[in-house]
Amino acid sequence: MKRIRVGIIGQGRSGRNIHAVVFNTEKLKEKFQLAAVADLDIARCKESCEENPGCKAYTDFREMLKDSSLDLIVNASQSPDHVPFSIEAMEAGHAVLCEKPLARTVSEADRVIAASKRTGQFFAVFQQSRFAPTFRKVLEVMNSGVLGRIVMVRVVFNGFSRRWDWQTLQDMNAGSLLNTGPHPLDQALQFFGNVDPETVFCRMDRANTWGDAEDHVKVILTAKGHPVIDMEVSSCAPPGQRVYEVYGTNGTLHGSHSELEWRFFDPADAPAHHLIREPLPDRAYCSEKLSFTTEKWTSSEQGMDFSYRTIKLYENLYDALVNGGKLEVTLEQVRRQIAVIEECHRQNPLSKLPLGV
Ligand SMILES: NC(=O)c1ccc[n+]([C@@H]2O[C@H](COP(=O)([O-])OP(=O)(O)OC[C@H]3O[C@@H](n4cnc5c(N)ncnc54)[C@H](O)[C@@H]3O)[C@@H](O)[C@H]2O)c1
Repeated sequence: MKRIRVGIIGQGRSGRNIHAVVFNTEKLKEKFQLAAVADLDIARCKESCEENPGCKAYTDFREMLKDSSLDLIVNASQSPDHVPFSIEAMEAGHAVLCEKPLARTVSEADRVIAASKRTGQFFAVFQQSRFAPTFRKVLEVMNSGVLGRIVMVRVVFNGFSRRWDWQTLQDMNAGSLLNTGPHPLDQALQFFGNVDPETVFCRMDRANTWGDAEDHVKVILTAKGHPVIDMEVSSCAPPGQRVYEVYGTNGTLHGSHSELEWRFFDPADAPAHHLIREPLPDRAYCSEKLSFTTEKWTSSEQGMDFSYRTIKLYENLYDALVNGGKLEVTLEQVRRQIAVIEECHRQNPLSKLPLGV
């Protein structure tokens, strides 16, 4: 079995805690080998190398790119470096998996996509929320038809928290929409139906942040023949909110990141009616008893494990790299996501911090 030799740029929260740690898991250890890591801070590299015999540590990722034995570069650098470092890695002759957000604008995303075509190098984006079992279950219930025509879907990745790191800065391609947003937006666009929205409405605000980027975002997407998408990423939200709500003509679904409940009726078994224009007799309201079927679903503990989605994405990536299989998260889908994000920023020009702060 081909074992893919991986080099990672960045050994921070993502490069180390999401990526470096999964290559030693039972599921991936025969398919991948962590062969090199690069970070400005050598101590961060050494931690990962100690756990992976033969792994080389670099402070300059460009030195790492000179190692032609690496089959895959994972770009887990800070967000503004996603486009330039990915292009450099492909030009150096490597396949690349890049962390989200791919880019701030469509034209930046197109530069990477063009570099992949020009160099003939494989390029993919790390959007592991596509593999979240609860998201998949929502999609399965929607597609089964029991809820009827889907009128609206709400996706809410909210919390109450304060933040003061680089993920609060506009010039770091940060803020809630570029940082957390790619997770719910990737899912929302799947619920929407894999087409470009006709309208995008967005309102951003700054609530509990030390930086100049937003930490409160509301996005509404519409297109004829598609459900309205109502998406939120907010740092000033009340607790206990539902993550998913689906509104259908024959039923509804709601749930959290781990549990779902849906109920629906069968129109064939429902009382028959005809439209009445005249005032109803006895000043009555329309009233009937619909017989609802209720179903519940709880994610397995394994499915809720943080690394589950990462491992699933790497399994898909391996299949694409080694067997020519299809990537689940396509570049066209990521480009659509970036187009929505770019339009949201266009509608919400936020004031910036003075230079040097
Ligand atoms: N997919 C996810 O769920 C997820 C989760 C966390 C972060 N991320 C993404 O991963 C990226 C990194 O975020 P993070 O939270 O790990 O940041 P971080 O600040 O924790 O880590 C960034 C690391 O990059 C290193 N670095 C900076 N410049 C470098 C350079 N030129 N060469 C090599 N290393 C360099 C820093 O020293 C640091 O160790 C971001 O784009 C973020 O959006 C994704």
